[in-house]
Amino acid sequence: MHFTARAHTNIALLKYWGKADTAIITPTTTSISLTLDEFYTDTTVWFDESLTTDKFILDNEVMTGHALQKVSQFLNVVRRQADITSYASVISTNHVPTAAGLASSASAFAALAGAASKAAGLDLTLTELSRLARHGSGSATRSVFGGFAQWTPGDDTTSVGSPLLADADWPIQLMTVVINDQQKAVGSRAGMQHAMATSPFYDLWVKTANEQVNQMITAIHNHDITTIGQIAEANALQMHATNMTAVPPFNYLTDKSWEVILMAQELRQKGIPVYATMDAGPNVKLISNPADTEVIKESLLSVVSDNQIINAHPGPGIQINAGDSIC
Ligand code: DP6
Repeated sequence: MHFTARAHTNIALLKYWGKADTAIITPTTTSISLTLDEFYTDTTVWFDESLTTDKFILDNEVMTGHALQKVSQFLNVVRRQADITSYASVISTNHVPTAAGLASSASAFAALAGAASKAAGLDLTLTELSRLARHGSGSATRSVFGGFAQWTPGDDTTSVGSPLLADADWPIQLMTVVINDQQKAVGSRAGMQHAMATSPFYDLWVKTANEQVNQMITAIHNHDITTIGQIAEANALQMHATNMTAVPPFNYLTDKSWEVILMAQELRQKGIPVYATMDAGPNVKLISNPADTEVIKESLLSVVSDNQIINAHPGPGIQINAGDSIC
């Protein structure tokens, strides 16, 4: 049976930056995210007894090496859980603007978990799917859910994602400012481990992030964009501070990233609530109210060009269909 799943990317408002257990991928802190409508991955999987190895096609390209190995390792988890031995064909398409550097392991592994589990004959709940997706990539635990979601530390059973506010049907948006579409020098997996192992600020990061969890949950339930933005920007800068203070230091943010971050801070001086958050790369995401789109865009256009700005809103949770496409 062929199954196809669509999972959207998410942006962490409280970041996951460090693993308590690298083998089963559990985090040191609770992370909280917003799933986005604009960017998603569609993945079709079928198990086939005639195959002698797993096959993986990504964006029409046959994948080999590390990319295939990561998918195969994840399929091993699915095979163990479903008690099957056949290899699988995996066809994946990232729906992100061409070369925007926004393809994400979160949507990729959430979609793979959804399609592969069904194709293997498993019928998992969303919580079980989130747990399975975690074995591919930590941030994928949250992409199973729509709207706001959180992922908590714990053991193999308890460290799962859960919905915080699935229908985020109030005005909040995320303007993604694409600064650079190049492959990053330090991937998030290596980066977070290095920061955790060597930054003297890492323990402070954990302590501060723990304090931010309840504040963020309250702000989300109050639909309070200003407080959400304040905490998210502080959390992102604190995460990047662990990288800049690692030994040796590393850094994802470029001069352009800082121009956008400072532009947001200047707009706030003028009374516009707009806040920046950045992941393991130079792109900046601006949290704001849709009513302020034009004024923010006008400022942004003095720093970047129009085609570098993509506006996203809360997106849905995972969809899974029998067959080769999402209807
Ligand atoms: C900065 O989920 O890509 O985007 O679990 O090693 O695959 P692995 O890491 P990944 O890390 C995401 C880091 C982040 C913050 C976040 O999404 O919470």
